[in-house]
Amino acid sequence: KTPIIIDTDPGIDDVIAITAALFAKELDVKLITTVGGNVGIENTTTNAVNLVNFLGKDTPVARGADQPLLKKLVSAAKVHGESGVGGYHFEAKENRTLLSTKHAVEELRDAILYSNEPITLVPIGPLTNIALLLKTYPEVKSNIKEIVLMGGAAKGGNVTPVAEFNMFVDPHAAKIVFDEQISIVMCGLDVTLQTRISTDDIKEIAGHGKVGEMVSQMLSYYDSPSSTETEMSIHDLSTIFYLTRPELFTLKRATVNVVTEGEASGCTITHYNEEGNVQVGLDVDVEEFRREFIATFMKVYGM
Ligand code: BDR
Ligand code: CA
Repeated sequence: KTPIIIDTDPGIDDVIAITAALFAKELDVKLITTVGGNVGIENTTTNAVNLVNFLGKDTPVARGADQPLLKKLVSAAKVHGESGVGGYHFEAKENRTLLSTKHAVEELRDAILYSNEPITLVPIGPLTNIALLLKTYPEVKSNIKEIVLMGGAAKGGNVTPVAEFNMFVDPHAAKIVFDEQISIVMCGLDVTLQTRISTDDIKEIAGHGKVGEMVSQMLSYYDSPSSTETEMSIHDLSTIFYLTRPELFTLKRATVNVVTEGEASGCTITHYNEEGNVQVGLDVDVEEFRREFIATFMKVYGM
């Protein structure tokens, strides 16, 4: 099993990605760290803890940065609801997950340094915690296998015409991470906007146990409570499917520069070259992705 750590701001698509990861036979989720992003840190942390409890897992959760490095947090409560999980309420359950008393950056450091095997980091929110980690404890770098992240775009944006949300929220952190000579797989909008899940797909999993019900209830909110869209992108899930089904993705090697100021703030500029440390996801087998989504949530049926 590939040991991974998920850094996240749940967030509806984050919840779906974490769920898929916790049930993937190929992955061993060692730690979940939270960051302010889609909603504030209190809610993203509560959502992460509640989710792990709800799924009957005991993955540790650690709370991280509440604000981006140099900017004020811009959240996405319009897309994910004020709580971050649409209108969904996790059933109250005994809290079996130990929410760490340490900061996420300290937990990340320990988990990476003391791991026997190199760790794959999977950031699916703003990169604040990861940037703090790499700057504070650069010694972790030698035990990071790669970073598989959701964020950025070779073309376009979803918050501004040129910036994707996770990059836009903390462009300075993103710059720090991309500038390190660490191997990065970037699942940006170029792939995630292609991976559309339809309301019919969601109906297929809705009747399948409490997990299917949770996912379908959250997705019925995703984008806005009154959304009439019949297809949606579950952005963060691409990172997990990249790890379990890499053959579905087409990547191209590049160097990525992040714009930190002005109108283009948060824009990821890709320079394709064979020596680049980033593999930019450009294409994905959309049909197979859809099948994998349904199969994944059918499997956790009865949960
Ligand atoms: C990213 O922004 C967030 O709203 C999602 O959770 C995802 O990580 C997509 O741009
Ligand atoms: Ca996210």
